[in-house]
Amino acid sequence: MNERPVGKKRVRFEPDNIEVMAETGANLLRVAQDAGVYIASSCGGNAVCGTCKVLIKEGNVATTGLDNHLSPEEIRQGYRHACSSHVLTDLTVFIPVESRLERTALTREDADAFEISDGVMGFIAEMGRNQEASPATAIESEMAPADVALEPPRTRPPLAKFFLKMTPPTLEDNVSDLSRILRELKSLYNLINLTVDFDVVKKLPETLRAANWEVTVTTIVTAISPSRAARHRPRVINIEPGDTRDRYYSLAFDIGTTSICGQLLDLNQRKVMAQYTDYNRQIIYGQDVITRIAFSQKTGGLDKLQQAVVSTINGIIRVLLSQCRIALEDVGHFVVAGNTTMIQILFGVSPKYIRLAPYVPTVNFMPPVKAKSLGIEAADHVYIHSLPIVASYIGADIVSGVLASGMHEKETLTLYIDIGTNGQIVLGNSEWMVTAACSAGPAFEGGGITNGMIASGGAIESFEINKETGAPVVRTVNGERPKGICGSGLISIIAGLFKVGIIGQDGKFDMEKNNIRLREGQDGPEYVIAWAPETQTGRDIVITEIDTGNLLRAKAAMYAGFQTLAKSVGVDGRDLEQVIIAGNFGHFIDPEEAITIGLLPDLPVERFTFIGNGSLNGVRLNSYYTDIIDDARKVATMMTNFELSDNTDFTNNYIASLFLPHTQASEFPSVMKWLNGMKVRK
Ligand code: FES
Repeated sequence: MNERPVGKKRVRFEPDNIEVMAETGANLLRVAQDAGVYIASSCGGNAVCGTCKVLIKEGNVATTGLDNHLSPEEIRQGYRHACSSHVLTDLTVFIPVESRLERTALTREDADAFEISDGVMGFIAEMGRNQEASPATAIESEMAPADVALEPPRTRPPLAKFFLKMTPPTLEDNVSDLSRILRELKSLYNLINLTVDFDVVKKLPETLRAANWEVTVTTIVTAISPSRAARHRPRVINIEPGDTRDRYYSLAFDIGTTSICGQLLDLNQRKVMAQYTDYNRQIIYGQDVITRIAFSQKTGGLDKLQQAVVSTINGIIRVLLSQCRIALEDVGHFVVAGNTTMIQILFGVSPKYIRLAPYVPTVNFMPPVKAKSLGIEAADHVYIHSLPIVASYIGADIVSGVLASGMHEKETLTLYIDIGTNGQIVLGNSEWMVTAACSAGPAFEGGGITNGMIASGGAIESFEINKETGAPVVRTVNGERPKGICGSGLISIIAGLFKVGIIGQDGKFDMEKNNIRLREGQDGPEYVIAWAPETQTGRDIVITEIDTGNLLRAKAAMYAGFQTLAKSVGVDGRDLEQVIIAGNFGHFIDPEEAITIGLLPDLPVERFTFIGNGSLNGVRLNSYYTDIIDDARKVATMMTNFELSDNTDFTNNYIASLFLPHTQASEFPSVMKWLNGMKVRK
């Protein structure tokens, strides 16, 4: 590599026109990240995936990696991989459409439908979704969503404020300041057995006297003790002059591997004041938890990951507070949920053993700590509280989602399923629950798919064939021109092509079909969803047989996980009374299409419920109601986790599921009935 000039350089990112100063030699992917310019980086900057392609329009970079994914023509034009480029001179860097991670992916809306015909793409009609988002889960809008309805109203929030108007000490009544406060709390509010933070004691004498003995005492219930009495013992965490009961706020966050969503809650009214979502800045270190765990083992890796998630959280907190004009000091509590890896990293606990047999998490009930000690921008007295963790791959997000769904309160036999790279399944009811996690791979998030992408603007999210013209009709995220295919689009495409016989039950294309969209591509048989002139990238968008195989493996892992779990507790899938689909991705799946490809059990569609970000809903409930803390403990304790990685039944079920919809026809009677009627190629 050439010797690098000393000093800072100006780096301009287009098309956002964001300009920053960077150290000479700085990694271009990191510079972009620090500037708030998000570039796809599936492999976490390891120069493997090729997703971080950028165009160096002006200036020079030093390249340290092999540009395997770039053609000689692209290199000649100035394309480089951001992760293996280092700033040498002032730069103008263009982020091509396929490399951009846009915030639209975080605020996904229903889109318009387009008919793709040979060279012509025309707007047809807006297609309604066939399932409705419940108000509590319509989080794609950054408007504050309506709240989860809980009837009847439960206990008060774990964060509580008590106003005290005390008589000053006298020679006759000369108990200590703290005793005076505890005496008042007992007499006015029947509060006993309190513990008191030392920080409160330190500021007690001056605060009491400056406030003329009129103060607000804040308590919190965050104890993790198995004993309910101990759990409900409030801790005095703050004392403020005057009556501040009208300023009573909390933060609720879902810490996702890809994105982080935060809500600012008004605890007096129990309502969401504002919501904001951003990419988890850890994304530059890899797209999935396994890559992140691997990165955490590098020197300084855990610190970098922890700082990345904290800086994302801090950015969201700033947006929420400024939107609502609320002071940081008035936020008294912070509740989070997330998968086990995300929670351990946030708390600065190494996730190393999560991916090593026998796959145990470090802790089930994370002790609450001061938020500030983790680097979170919060008032000194604020504790951060995580929902419980069940296992390495059944995290606080699942406990939180189950709580929000109410599954733990009903006798209804329920399947709760979160579809994603790490699929998570819960089966049971108020009496018992079993769980399992299955590694489905990245296909549901567009990973490993020729034209795959996450669900941001232009991602094809649904597909059908126009019966009259035979042309595909696609719907894209935000109604933009097609750019790629996201997970829900992939399911829809495979189901659609299967229904018209272009794909057979083995996932292979029928090349004998007379269809101009079927052709031999670089990687074998493929079907053209959109021609180059119709797309944002100027290249054909295709689905290949390799893509189909990847989706088959992903759906087989999910279904086999369910099958294995159900069989292990003697449940027949047909007896399921309710199927709850959680997760933002799941929210956009059409259940009929998912059944068609054998991803979800073959049940009447009315048994399916979509709850969107169940994890966030559960976190919010934890902020509103103290008794939910007990429920969370109960749910986490009653869940029995089944490890599937070396389970023979799972392997057999997985192999049987590598078929459309399944090799066991009896598993999918409605699909088989239709299939036999259609005489589709088997
Ligand atoms: S090649 Fe750059 S992030 Fe993967």
